[in-house]
Amino acid sequence: MDVAEFDTVAEEYQEQHRSNIAITGEAPEYFAEYKINLVRQFTGQKNIDAAHILDFGSGIGNSIPHFNRFFPAAKLTCADVSQRSLDIANSRFPGLGQNVRIEGAQLPFHDESFDVAFSACVFHHIPHAEHVHWLKELRRVTRPGGIVAIFEHNPLNPLTVHAVNTCPFDVNAKLIRASNFVKTYQQAGWQRPSVRYHLFFPRALAALRGLERHLSRVAIGAQYSIVATKSH
Ligand SMILES: C[S@@+](CC[C@H](N)C(=O)[O-])C[C@H]1O[C@@H](n2cnc3c(N)ncnc32)[C@H](O)[C@@H]1O
Repeated sequence: MDVAEFDTVAEEYQEQHRSNIAITGEAPEYFAEYKINLVRQFTGQKNIDAAHILDFGSGIGNSIPHFNRFFPAAKLTCADVSQRSLDIANSRFPGLGQNVRIEGAQLPFHDESFDVAFSACVFHHIPHAEHVHWLKELRRVTRPGGIVAIFEHNPLNPLTVHAVNTCPFDVNAKLIRASNFVKTYQQAGWQRPSVRYHLFFPRALAALRGLERHLSRVAIGAQYSIVATKSH
């Protein structure tokens, strides 16, 4: 999807997203909170002081309130190619995070600016031939010892594929197999990329969600995360 395309769907994004995932019984807020809660766990496990966090492809800011809750002391920078989306994020959550437009092929940040580079459901909107480039850019702006944590839709989950195929703003989406994305991370210089699968149960089966952390290696979760470290 090009820049203008997301600018044009920015106003409708949340309601389209809400109706597209209604089958799960959950709202967009559930999925956003779920991911940032996991990022908090990842940084805790790796003992990372997450003082500066980048949300790459932050859209209309769905992750912002959850970063504010799980990382109350962190400085959050939200970056996107869609100015319209950034404007909406700014009006939804004024003062919670700095919104920065990405123009051209470089991230507009100095080397080693961030402890954590996060991205949710962005790379399937970026041509696959550009993935190594943007993962290198994320690595450049991450400090040694910092991490990248990217969440993507799992093309091995039939319900995810159905949701993407019926979602208006996913019309140009190209889903990414975790096994291929791991290789792309390695080509971009990231160390030890680790895949975990998430989101196995809809709200109707919420009683089973306590099992999810034991299923992280089972490749049928609705989404997956890949976390990797920038070596010193
Ligand atoms: C499906 S939305 C996800 C937004 C947000 N991460 C979320 O979870 O709600 C995808 C976002 O990726 C952005 N995007 C697409 N290509 C991008 C690129 N090359 N660099 C940064 N953002 C990009 C779009 O503008 C859009 O806001």
